[in-house]
Amino acid sequence: MGSRIVSTGRAVPPTCISNRDLERRLDTSHEWICSRTGIIRRHVLRDGESLVDFAAEASRQALQRAGMEAGDLDAIVAGTVSSEYAFPSFACQVQRALGAPTVPALDVAAACSGFVYALAVADGIMRAGDWRRALVVGADALSTMVNWRDRSTAVLFGDGAGAVVMVSEPGPRGVLKSILRSSGEMWDLLSVRATGQRGAIDAASVRDPRDAIQMRGPELFRIAVKSMEDVTREVAEGAGVSLNDISLVVPHQANLRIINAMMERLGIDQEKVFTNIDRYGNTSAASVPIALDEAVEANRLQSNDLVLINACGGGLTWGANLVRW
Ligand code: ACO
Repeated sequence: MGSRIVSTGRAVPPTCISNRDLERRLDTSHEWICSRTGIIRRHVLRDGESLVDFAAEASRQALQRAGMEAGDLDAIVAGTVSSEYAFPSFACQVQRALGAPTVPALDVAAACSGFVYALAVADGIMRAGDWRRALVVGADALSTMVNWRDRSTAVLFGDGAGAVVMVSEPGPRGVLKSILRSSGEMWDLLSVRATGQRGAIDAASVRDPRDAIQMRGPELFRIAVKSMEDVTREVAEGAGVSLNDISLVVPHQANLRIINAMMERLGIDQEKVFTNIDRYGNTSAASVPIALDEAVEANRLQSNDLVLINACGGGLTWGANLVRW
């Protein structure tokens, strides 16, 4: 018995910051940001807003489209590194916001790979037969973790949430295979200390730069391209499918140049990739489920299509899910 994604949803904070807005705060330019990253604008949390509210909104949409209520769920899994609380977990906070019953709710912390990891965890437990209906959320607010005076990181991130409902189902459709990889050895390519402090763009106090996101961008760029390429080949080979059979690649949206380079190395037609980084920036674990929801809306996903999801992020972590839609 496998598991199938039956519906999707997304929600982002209303505050939208363009590259031109950033030009007024930082020594940067729309041209630099756009040409080096593909980002044009991003949605960010304001001081006092809660990411849980957006995750709950994305979840309600997915539940409604699945024809379900929170009471129908057997589990909630959240891919996130942005909980305002060390405990309760983010998933428990979403559970409360939805009014879901006393089913297991747990977080999976894998930074930008959070959704890929959470989907694999939920699929694995569903295959074991314990859950029949699971809500999988990807949500992050990395804009609250940057030093808003550091142009090399402040321009990259946006906030938001996406959600999918998974149902256990026999037959050929659903998650065919997932492969997850980590390398703690490379932890310091991308990190942020857990201080409990938040630093929204409009916050009165500026985050201590030592407690903001630390990133070795160019090294990360090279590793992201190679790791996402390698894990994609591995998952396709493991599932016994050819890369040519993939209908749509929905990658983590970190940098348009990373995505383009990965697609080129894989030899997959650039028309087969879904990107929306121009409008959201890097939303970490939220990027894949937001992109899936938009791909559904744009009619880019048909029943039985072979969909490849992949990501790379802090940890380092990386992974891929191959899904028969
Ligand atoms: N505006 C203008 N100039 C800038 C900016 C900015 N916002 N940021 C950096 N620069 C300058 C640098 O200071 C440098 O100037 P110098 O040559 O005078 O020293 C110059 O631009 C080039 O800097 P690089 O860091 O070499 O630029 P690069 O082309 O590598 O792009 C970037 C930087 C966009 C961060 C890229 O390395 C990248 O995307 N890396 C991956 C990072 C990433 O995606 N992180 C997210 C999480 S991990 C993941 O999701 C995969």
